[in-house]
This record gives sequence, structure tokens and C-alpha cells, in this order.
Amino acid sequence: MKKRVLTGLQPTGVITLGNYIGAIKQMIEFQEEYDSYIFIADMHAITINQDPIELRNNIKSLVALYMACGIDFNKNTIYIQSDNPYIANISWMLECNTYYGELSRMTQFKDKSKKNANFTSGLLTYPVLMAADILAMDTDYVPVGIDQKQHVELARDIAIRYNKKYGETFKIPEPIIKSTGTKIMDLQYPDKKMSKSSENQKGVIRLLDDLNVVRKKIMSATTDSEMVVKFDTVNKPGISNLINIYSSLTNKSIKEVESEFKDSNYGNFKTKVADVVVDVLSDIQNKYNEIINGDKIDEILDHGMLKNIEISKVFYEKMKKSIGLGRK
Ligand code: AMP
Ligand code: TRP
Repeated sequence: MKKRVLTGLQPTGVITLGNYIGAIKQMIEFQEEYDSYIFIADMHAITINQDPIELRNNIKSLVALYMACGIDFNKNTIYIQSDNPYIANISWMLECNTYYGELSRMTQFKDKSKKNANFTSGLLTYPVLMAADILAMDTDYVPVGIDQKQHVELARDIAIRYNKKYGETFKIPEPIIKSTGTKIMDLQYPDKKMSKSSENQKGVIRLLDDLNVVRKKIMSATTDSEMVVKFDTVNKPGISNLINIYSSLTNKSIKEVESEFKDSNYGNFKTKVADVVVDVLSDIQNKYNEIINGDKIDEILDHGMLKNIEISKVFYEKMKKSIGLGRK
């Protein structure tokens, strides 16, 4: 039997070229090797304030975008977290077996609660909901960024403690720390990561950006005054970033890219980078439009929802019984 891998994505903001190059490629590798589950963590998103219309639009849009990037619905079970009412119930039962001290020590909670004095209690209990996502799906592996590793470790602690108290119930999941891969930098500030949450739009390419705007962003990327296309992240961070983008999207090595452009000026080089990025995005956007406007996506999400419910319901019933809830 294939091992089960599960990951959740928050539906906040349109994903960037950095996410595509740094993360989605790895997810596409996982889908070949594992029994793979991907869900939209919309309940996690509301731990901070969200505009309801925007949030709801983002949910299906994100599913369609991942599929357009190559996440195959035949190889992944794809669902929306809030479509399954058992998860929040399981989360409650786990919360009552998790200590306030453990939750208040989480790094993400400490950071986020410092930023806003009016934080919600959901921000504190967020990792327990995440533990419910993971444990109630009988998960073996959880690929996450390093910032989420602590939450997966807490899920392990919760599972171990629960099993001791109520008898063998949960599998103990393991985090897989996503390889950092190629880090794509902001086009305007190449010393900063290209980030979904960046305020300056000029340096960030989002997968659904207008293609003319994408071209302009690349043409006006920060470079240097040396005029040689050479990979040197210390002295030439802007050019090195463009080399990385070009190399990742064409599968050419850095050396090959350097030699391809050894006689080029920056204008020519940028034009070629823009051509490749626009090509890739145009393909993604065409597929995205087809998916978001078709009816297949609801079918896929319904199928995922039923599978998610079927698996988690067994845990829910078992937990209720062991804890002593409900009728005999
Ligand atoms: P985030 O959007 O920051 O939650 O990140 C989601 C995933 O995308 C993580 O696995 C990150 O490692 C990856 N990622 C985000 N931004 C970049 C970037 N600029 N370059 C490479 N990978 C990135
Ligand atoms: N908290 C994760 C994030 O912000 C998203 C998430 C929710 C998740 N539930 C999960 C990730 C379960 C992995 C497994 O990125």
C-alpha cells in the first residue's frame, strides 16, 4: 500500500511564480509516489480577518489554479476543509486534550498575536485544527514549510498522548520538510523573497496576472551596471534571480543559461526571460479558465469531500465513544 501524504493550503491571495517554482513542482513529484491528499484550509484562513466574498472566490480559484499547474485530480484527492463538518468536531475533542501552555508556546502564535492585540482564540487553537486535519485522515507524511514543522510536531504529541489515554487510535504522522529548492526573489528588491503578501506589486508575479503586465514587470526588474549575464547572488542578485527563473522554467542549468546569454545585453536577456515566463503563464491561464468555467471542478471537490468525510467519520465515532460522549 502506498503511504498517505496530506497537505493543506490556505486560500489567501493568488499564488506567485515563487510558489510555482519552489513548491508546486515538488507536489507534482509527490503525486507519483504517494496516496496524495490536498485540501484548501479555508477554516484556518479565518483565524485572521477575511473579506467573505474574496475568501469564497479564492477557494475554488486556488483549486483550479493548482490543477492548471499540473496537480492531477486522478492522482490526488482534493477537497475543501469546511465541506466536512467532522473535522471541527474532532478538533474540539482534541482541544480538550491539549494544554493551553502548549498552544501559547507555538512560535507562529507568539508572532501573530504580537502583531495584533485583538487576536482571536482561533489563532491560539489553530494548530489543533491542523492536528485534526492530519490525524483524522490517517496520514503518514505531512509536507510543510519549515514554519509549520512545529505544528506537525504538536500533532504528533497530541496523537501520542491521546493513544495513551484512550487506546490506540491515531497513526503518528511525520513532517516532510519541503526542500527549499530555488528561492525566487522579488523583481524590484532582489534581496527579498518574492512573496504572496508583498505590498509592492511590481516585484511580484502572480500566476493570474495580465500577461502584458508580467512582461513589463520583468523588463523593469532591478539589475546592476555591469552588463554581464553571470550568476552571482552577492554582487548581482537581480540578474541571478532572472537566471534562476529562466533556468527553472526551461530546465537548463545555470551554466547553460550563462553561456546562452554571454554576448547579450540586459535588454535582450530580459526579453527572453519574459518570453519564457509569459509562455508558461499563458498555458497555466488557459487551463485555469477551462477548469474554473467547467463543471468538472465541482465533481472533483464532491468526490474529495465524500472521501474525506468517510475516513474522518470513523475517527469521529471512535473518539466519541472512547471519550464518553453521546448516548450508549
Ligand atoms: P507561502 O506562500 O509563503 O505560504 O509558501 C508556500 C510554499 O511556496 C512554500 O513551500 C514555500 O517554500 C514556497 N515559496 C513561497 N515563496 C517562494 C519563493 N519566492 N521562492 C521559492 N519558493 C517559494
Ligand atoms: N497551517 C498550514 C499553513 O498555513 C495549512 C494547513 C492546515 C495544513 N492544515 C494542514 C498543512 C494540515 C498541512 C497539514 O500553511
